[in-house]
Amino acid sequence: MKLFAIFGDPVAHSRSPLMHNYVFSRLRFDACYTRIHLTDGSKLKETFFALGLSGANVTVPHKEAAFLACDEVRGFAKEIGVVNTLINENGKLIGYNTDADGFMFAIEEFNNLKKILILGAGGTAKALFRRFLQEGLAVEVLNRSKGNLAYFKEFATPCHTWESFTPSSYDLVVNTTSAGLKDDHLPAPREIIESVLANTRYAADAIYGKVTPFLALACEKNIPAKDGADMLLGQGVLANDYFTQHRFDQERIKEAMAQSFLF
Ligand SMILES: NC(=O)c1ccc[n+]([C@@H]2O[C@H](COP(=O)([O-])OP(=O)(O)OC[C@H]3O[C@@H](n4cnc5c(N)ncnc54)[C@H](OP(=O)(O)O)[C@@H]3O)[C@@H](O)[C@H]2O)c1
Repeated sequence: MKLFAIFGDPVAHSRSPLMHNYVFSRLRFDACYTRIHLTDGSKLKETFFALGLSGANVTVPHKEAAFLACDEVRGFAKEIGVVNTLINENGKLIGYNTDADGFMFAIEEFNNLKKILILGAGGTAKALFRRFLQEGLAVEVLNRSKGNLAYFKEFATPCHTWESFTPSSYDLVVNTTSAGLKDDHLPAPREIIESVLANTRYAADAIYGKVTPFLALACEKNIPAKDGADMLLGQGVLANDYFTQHRFDQERIKEAMAQSFLF
């Protein structure tokens, strides 16, 4: 039997074990998926191999540590320096990123997007940012602190901290911060979020499984909004396709994984 896991801190909230185990069982793939609470990202690689894992997902806050831990990084993950899916390929750690494509799947229903504001500047923000640029979209980034903005500035993208921000108008505002994940914080001071929501057509949150204060405020203002569940499904399908070594049709994986959301 192959063993898979998700690494994160926090990780108890993660639905990934339920999603992947359900797919493994439906597709009769002999594997089991668990969760590992990892506080020190530098221990990712040794923990992965010590547990004899065949593959893993990586969540907050270790996706950049996962990139550094890999022997080889492939595809889009190489461009952005952020890894959320790990595969044990003959004793080598191979990294991929499935978050950005998962998010594009999630926002298919939001039409005519031209300008997007990203709240946050961590691993998820970077992945979505590069994917939005690939799609030819205009992007602005707003983050709590300056340090993480350096990456975005290299692309001549308007970047702001809370202190330097004046909102313009957006088609979509997406919360990629972890504010609201295990607390009741908005991703920026209330007056900023209020002004941003007054100037957007759509809102999305990467967080799933709860109505974050950001999402609640968007709904209160009747802005079409969605949480991170479809993004979770999209990235999960692509990760499972790597775990099962492309043995199954992606549509079959998606159908099975979507059913796991009913529990
Ligand atoms: N639905 C899905 O499938 C999916 C996929 C990926 C990620 N996610 C979610 O996306 C979120 C971010 O993940 P990540 O891996 O990108 O995390 P990360 O790399 O650790 O980045 C976290 C970001 O959140 C900001 N932040 C943290 N606490 C904040 C607060 N109280 N107020 C304002 N900003 C705050 C940080 O700002 P500083 O730079 O100032 O520290 C940073 O920009 C997590 O909640 C994760 O669960 C969901």
